[in-house]
Amino acid sequence: MTIREHISLLPYNTFRIDVEAAVVAEYESVGELKSILRTYSGMPVLPVGEGSNLLFTRNFGGLVLRSRMQRAKAVRETAGEVWIEAEAGLRLDDLIAQLADMDIRGMENLSHIPGTVGAAAVQNVGAYGVEAKDVIEKVSVLDTLTMQTRTYTGEQCCFAYRDSVFKHGKRGTCIITSVVFRLSKGGPFRLDYGGLRQALGQDDVSRLSALDVRRAVIAVRRAKLPEVGEVGSAGSFFKNPVVTKDTFAAIKAQYSEIPFFPLEDGVKIPAAWLIEQCGMKGRTVGGAQVWEKQPLVIVNRGGASPGDIVALAQLVTDAVRDRFSITLTPEVNYI
Ligand code: EPU
Repeated sequence: MTIREHISLLPYNTFRIDVEAAVVAEYESVGELKSILRTYSGMPVLPVGEGSNLLFTRNFGGLVLRSRMQRAKAVRETAGEVWIEAEAGLRLDDLIAQLADMDIRGMENLSHIPGTVGAAAVQNVGAYGVEAKDVIEKVSVLDTLTMQTRTYTGEQCCFAYRDSVFKHGKRGTCIITSVVFRLSKGGPFRLDYGGLRQALGQDDVSRLSALDVRRAVIAVRRAKLPEVGEVGSAGSFFKNPVVTKDTFAAIKAQYSEIPFFPLEDGVKIPAAWLIEQCGMKGRTVGGAQVWEKQPLVIVNRGGASPGDIVALAQLVTDAVRDRFSITLTPEVNYI
């Protein structure tokens, strides 16, 4: 394990915010994790994966924890399915790359999403019609209050759109140690979302492998989203809002071209479209900018302070509320 005090969080967040943490500790086993928690008991705890969904708004006076546990193995197998247990510190995309090489299916649409396996469960990450919850069988955690390990079934995780119990009731008291994914060996692909089928450029889907779909997903993402490591960002800054059917009908009467996705209990509208209508593409505050190719992303063009990003997010939120009476909510976690 490594423990360092009063260090910059710059390498620990993809937004490239340079604030300081009281303690940053990295661990290689649950035993080491427990020992760190005992040493710093009473301090606020923040588990981070790659820090790809966080906005540090100020110095963090607590304990930042990063797992270096990165193994994955098959724990069960049938003729058509395989259950993979992956440790929380493994990069999600490294896992998906390994699975795609073996044509194990179910997570290929989540290719190229930054972050770790643990973070994928916290955030219920999603892309191109698939969410982590669709393939998560169970999640193992260390409860920091009891120092006991326990397992949550998918249902107990209370997954919702970019949401789980680990962001609410269990926030700060549960550290995910591993996740079991239930995957398929030859199952069908989900290709009906966001230009995926066009990117694959062939009609005979029966011949596709998980690797083909992974490559197409990466190409579609690269065309729209800033590359983590090249441009500071935390992916989508806002969630896509869900409005009531009545509210939607009222907006549609005025904007007939509005894109939308009907849900059981309402209508989902792309935040990107709302933001674009407000003329906010490319808008800047200090070093923060609304990304031109996908305006639900805010980027750090270099040297953005947390204040720049918060102010720009507020400007966007106000503009959308003034024009559409819809309140955007952030997808990133403010710390
Ligand atoms: N659009 C515009 N203007 C633009 C860009 C997009 O009007 O400049 C509209 C288009 O109508 C487009 C629609 O927005 O059809 C949806 O855009 P896109 O398919 O790019 O996806 P999204 O809804 O903006 C969501 C996720 C992404 C995920 C993509 C693909 C959220 C908050 N974001 O974005 O997830 O990659 O779908 O499935 O749900 C993330 O969570 O960080 C993330 C990047």
